[in-house]
Order: sequence, then structure tokens, then C-alpha cells
Amino acid sequence: MIFRCISCGTTTENVPVADTRCAKCGDLLDWCGSGNVSVSALLPPPQEFTLWRYATLLPEFEDSRIISLSEGGTPLTYSERLGEQIGIDELFLKNEGRNPTGSFKDRGMTVAVTAASALGYRAAICASTGNTAASMAAYCSKADLKSIVLVPKGKVVGTKLAQAYAAGASILEVEGNFDQALKLVREVQGNRIAILNSINPFRIEGQKTAAFEICDQLGAAPDWLVIPVGNGGNITAYWKGFSEFKAIGAISSLPKMVAVQARGAAPLVHAVRNNEDTVKGMDGPETIASAIRIGKPANWKRALDAVRSSGGEAIAVSDEEISMAREMIARTEGMLVELASAAAVAGLIKLKREGRIGPGENVVCIMTGSGLKDVGEERIRTETISSKASLLDRIEALSVK
Ligand code: F0G
Repeated sequence: MIFRCISCGTTTENVPVADTRCAKCGDLLDWCGSGNVSVSALLPPPQEFTLWRYATLLPEFEDSRIISLSEGGTPLTYSERLGEQIGIDELFLKNEGRNPTGSFKDRGMTVAVTAASALGYRAAICASTGNTAASMAAYCSKADLKSIVLVPKGKVVGTKLAQAYAAGASILEVEGNFDQALKLVREVQGNRIAILNSINPFRIEGQKTAAFEICDQLGAAPDWLVIPVGNGGNITAYWKGFSEFKAIGAISSLPKMVAVQARGAAPLVHAVRNNEDTVKGMDGPETIASAIRIGKPANWKRALDAVRSSGGEAIAVSDEEISMAREMIARTEGMLVELASAAAVAGLIKLKREGRIGPGENVVCIMTGSGLKDVGEERIRTETISSKASLLDRIEALSVK
């Protein structure tokens, strides 16, 4: 590798990493390139990978009606360091935070807003702990629909509200929690407004494409799929997606579905662990993972079925376990995820401890949302330095000798 000074033009083969200066004049160095590269050596530009590649398995719309922000096609990241720490041979994280508004909700919204817009609706409504609101507002602005979002008063992360507000949504705060907000939305069924919570079947259709992607990325279905659960729409969608892919012969096996909830908001876990036929729901759900602070999951029937039919499991994790898992993911894989997403990894740690995961079995954890929405500022620790000597001390302490 050759580098050239941007001022005096001196070239050097010394790789400028620990010392980035030109040895002669001290200015910056520029890499000289790898020689004669012809256009023909370039890779062809990749085709855009959005979830609409699975259009044949989705409700049909004219191409020109589709409201898309390029959602889907998210990375499935082999997570060797995190896997090692947990004791899983093959662990993958499906990074849904890479969707346009930073969460998996965009998969459901592209289909549901397309449907609402194609059917001539002029406005849409949802209840939300934040991500649904941010996503719906963005897709509605693209479709020129008005949007109304109902959120639990004072309980939604500012970034998510800011996303909804910026996209022009009317934000209505409800005295109460998500369940009460969703109850209100359900009470206005039948008016000229599209309801875009996961009780809308088009949402499930869009979200099921994440299961297709995982199978295509792995070349098979995983052995285990671990996913955080709030209202139960997403686990419903994944199970539908895997089942459909098996039905058409694209995969030959189905994953065991593991639903993870926060301990203070775990009605599904309660039902699974107590062998109950219904999820009764609970009042006053509490957890730091505000995205899944839900006591009465609207999709409980299908969520329960996904866990039971797949031979999976339901696991509750504490707030402390969620916070620790979030740090662990960021510190091993460089991926900052939402607290709700970290719950999946916290659940996986427990599942492993319970001895449920066999050697050689692979696991996919769904990282449902980006950590940039809620960075956990209160947990940041910094140090102050005052001199070169104290900086050198820090470097000495960190560097591998
Ligand atoms: N993870 C994140 C980041 C979420 O925002 C949600 C739900 C879930 C997981 C749970 O998914 O409800 O389909 O079981 N957020 C909804 C919202 C409730 O309003 O944004 P689920």
C-alpha cells in the first residue's frame, strides 16, 4: 500500500495508522489506490432489496399504488462474539432497526398504508407505544394521508414522538397506557379512517416477509426464533411467514418460536407457563422497555398458537436483565438496539441456561428496533482528563502489550 502526502507529494509505504503524518512535512496522507482498475472490474450495482420482492405472497396491488420507503432487506448478522458469551454455536441477529423509520413496523405499514390509500381512505389512526406511530406517520405522509396517533401520556420516548410529529401526525395523548389507547381506537371502528394497528390484517402480511428473508438468508429455517412480544402481532406474522414458506416447499422445517416479554408485562408468558387456554391480560403493565409495555395483547390467540404449535417457549425477563442484554449486544456486536429488542437476547440467555438449546442448533433473535430511538443516556459514564500524561496513562491501560 502506498500513501502520498496531500501537500508535498512525498510517497511512503509506512501505513499511517498510529502515526498519520507525512514524515517530511507533517501534513495528511492519502491512499494512492490499487492501480489500474477498469470499469469492467466493478461489480454490477445490486438490485434494490425490499420486501416487495415477495409480492407474489402478498395481497395484490398495482405497482403504481405501492407506498414504499424501501423497507425490508435488513441484515441477518452472524453474531459470533455474542453467541460465544451466551454459549450458542450459531447465533444471528436480524437487524430490523435498519428499516426506514428504525423499526420492523415499516414492513407492516408499507402494505397496510398501500391498502388504505388504494381503497381511497384519506386518514389513518393507531394506538402506539411509539414505533407504530413513527412508522404510520411516515408512510401516511408519503401517501398523502392524514394521521392520528394515540399514545400513553408522558410515556413515549421523545424520538418516536418527534418522528411522528415531523411527518405531520396529530398526536393525541391518552391518560392511561397502550391498552387503553388501543381500546379507544377499536371504539371508532367503522368510521372513515383506516385502523393501522396489528389488528389490521395487512400489517401481518407485510411483517411476515421478515420470516421469508431469514429463510433466504440462512438457506433454511432456523432451529429457534426468539422475539420480543407486546401486542403479539409480530410473532403472529413470523409464524405465518414460516408456515407459508413451508407450505410452498421453500423450507422443510419450522423454527421453535420463543416469545419474550418483560416481567412486568408478561400476560402471554403467564398463560403459556400455566398451560392456560386464553391470555387473560393484566392491568398496569410496567417495564423500562416502553415499546412492549402492554398488558392486553390484541393478538394473543395467534401468539399463543405460534408458541404452542411450534413447540417453542415463552419467557419473562427482568428490567435489569434487559438493560444488561442491551449493553452486551452493543459491546460484542456493535449493534445498539431498543430495550424491547434486547429483551429477546435476555430471554435467549435464560433459555440457554434452562438447557433447552441443543448443541449445533442455530438461533435467530429479532432486533425489532434501533437503539438510536432511546439511547439510554442516563446510563452513560464518562471520565475527564486534564493532560497528555493522563491520556497516555489511559492509552497504556487499554493497549495490548
Ligand atoms: N419491539 C419493538 C421495538 C416494538 O416497538 C414493539 C411493539 C414490539 C417489539 C412488540 O411487537 O406488539 O407486535 O408484539 N410496538 C408497538 C408500537 C406496540 O406501538 O410501536 P408486537
